[in-house]
Amino acid sequence: MSQIPELLRQGESRFASAWGEWRVIPFAHRERPRQHLALIRGDLPPSGDVLLGLHRRCPAGEILRAGTCRCGARLEATLAALAQAETGVLLYLDLPGTPAAAPLECPLSHSDPPLPEEAAFILRHLGIASVRLLSDPAEAAPPHLPGIAVTARVPLLLEAPPFPGDAALKARLAGLPEAARRLRRSQGRPLVTLTYAQSLDGSIAARPGHPLAISGPASQTFTHALRAVHDAILVGIGTVLADNPALTVRLVPGSHPRPVIMDTRLRLPAYARLLREGRRHPVVATSEQAPPERQAELEDLGATVLRLPVGPNGGIHLPALLARLAELGVAALMVEGGAQVITSFLNSRLVDQVVVTVAPILVGGVRVLDGYLPAAERRFPRLAGVAYYQVGEDLVLWGAPSWS
Ligand SMILES: NC(=O)c1ccc[n+]([C@@H]2O[C@H](COP(=O)([O-])OP(=O)(O)OC[C@H]3O[C@@H](n4cnc5c(N)ncnc54)[C@H](OP(=O)(O)O)[C@@H]3O)[C@@H](O)[C@H]2O)c1
Repeated sequence: MSQIPELLRQGESRFASAWGEWRVIPFAHRERPRQHLALIRGDLPPSGDVLLGLHRRCPAGEILRAGTCRCGARLEATLAALAQAETGVLLYLDLPGTPAAAPLECPLSHSDPPLPEEAAFILRHLGIASVRLLSDPAEAAPPHLPGIAVTARVPLLLEAPPFPGDAALKARLAGLPEAARRLRRSQGRPLVTLTYAQSLDGSIAARPGHPLAISGPASQTFTHALRAVHDAILVGIGTVLADNPALTVRLVPGSHPRPVIMDTRLRLPAYARLLREGRRHPVVATSEQAPPERQAELEDLGATVLRLPVGPNGGIHLPALLARLAELGVAALMVEGGAQVITSFLNSRLVDQVVVTVAPILVGGVRVLDGYLPAAERRFPRLAGVAYYQVGEDLVLWGAPSWS
C-alpha cells in the first residue's frame, strides 16, 4: 500500500442544498496549502459498496464553463447522481500545485496525478472499503485507489439527450407564444399552462422535502423547451422551501422564464436560487399583511414584490395576480407546482392547457392534488383534445381542461 498522506480532518458541518442535505468534512494537508472536502449524502451503509464521485477543483469549468472543459458539467452530473441515489460520497479534491499564473486553467490539461493516495486515505478514514465509481464515459480508465475496491463504474450522464424528434410536439411548442399573445389581448391575462411530472400512481415527489427526479432525461429536455416558450414560471413557496429549484432553461437554447412565487407571508429565503441565479428579477406575489421589512430585503435582492388581495381560501387571489402579470408583460405563464398551487389553479378554472409527464415509476409519495376538487354533480375536469407523445421512456399528455 502506498504511503498515507499528511491529511488532517477538520471538524464537520451540515447544509441543505438543491441536491438535498449533505455532511461536509474538510481534510487539510499538513504541509501544502490545500484542502479537500468529503461531501456525504445520506447514511452510508455499514458495509458494501458506496457510490463515489471524484472531482478535482476546476474554477475554469465550474465558474466559467470555459472552452471544451467538461469539469462543470461533470460536477453537476455527479451531484445530481448522488442526490438521486440519496446516499454516497463526493470527494472534492484541491489541485496540487496549480501554477500561480494560471489559476483558472483546467486541471485536465495538467499531467498531475489525480491524487489517488489522498482520495483513498479519506475513504479509508470514512470507513469505506469498496465503491461504485461515478465516471465520465469520455475519460480513460479511472484512477487506482490504493486499498479501495472499485466494484463498478457508473456512467455519468453529461450531455442532455437530444430534444425528442416529434415534429408535431415541436410545432405545438413553436405556436405557443403567438397563441399566448392573442389570449392576453382578448382576456387581459396570460395564457396559463399547468404542468408537472408524475409517477404512475400520481405522485409528484417522494415525500415532503425530498425532491425526486421523476421524469427521464428526454422529457427533462422537453420540460426545458416548454419553459423556453413561456415568459414566466410560477411555483408556490412550498416548492421553493422543499426543493430550492432554479427553474432555468439549461438543456436547450432559449431564455429563462421570469420566476413568480406565491408567498402570502414572504417566507422566501435569501438563499433561494430563484433570487440568486441569473438576475431574473423574480416576482413575489404576497398579501397586504406580509412583513414590510421582508419586502425591503427581497427588493434589495432584485425581487418585485406585488401586494395582492387574498382569495376565499386564504391564498393569493389568482385573477388579481394574472391581471398584474399581464401588465408586467407576461403573455405565457407556466405553472409548475406544487400540489397546493396546482389544486388552486384547477379550482379557479384559470388553466388553458395541461401538460403532464407520466413516468413509468411507482412512488407512493406526495399526491398531485391537494384535497378534492369541488365537482358539482360529480363532473370532474377532463382534458379535451388530448395529444399523447412518447418522450424517451415517458408519456407526455397535452390537452385543454374542460369542466362542462
Ligand atoms: N413533480 C413535479 O412536477 C413537481 C413540481 C413542483 C413541485 N413539486 C413538489 O411539490 C411539493 C410542494 O408542494 P406544496 O403543495 O407543499 O407547495 P406549493 O404548492 O409549491 O406551495 C403552496 C404554498 O403556496 C402559498 N400560496 C399562496 N397563494 C396560494 C394559492 N392561491 N394557492 C396555493 N398556494 C398558495 C401558500 O403558502 P403561504 O400561505 O405561506 O403563502 C401555500 O402553502 C414538493 O414536494 C415538490 O417537490 C413537484
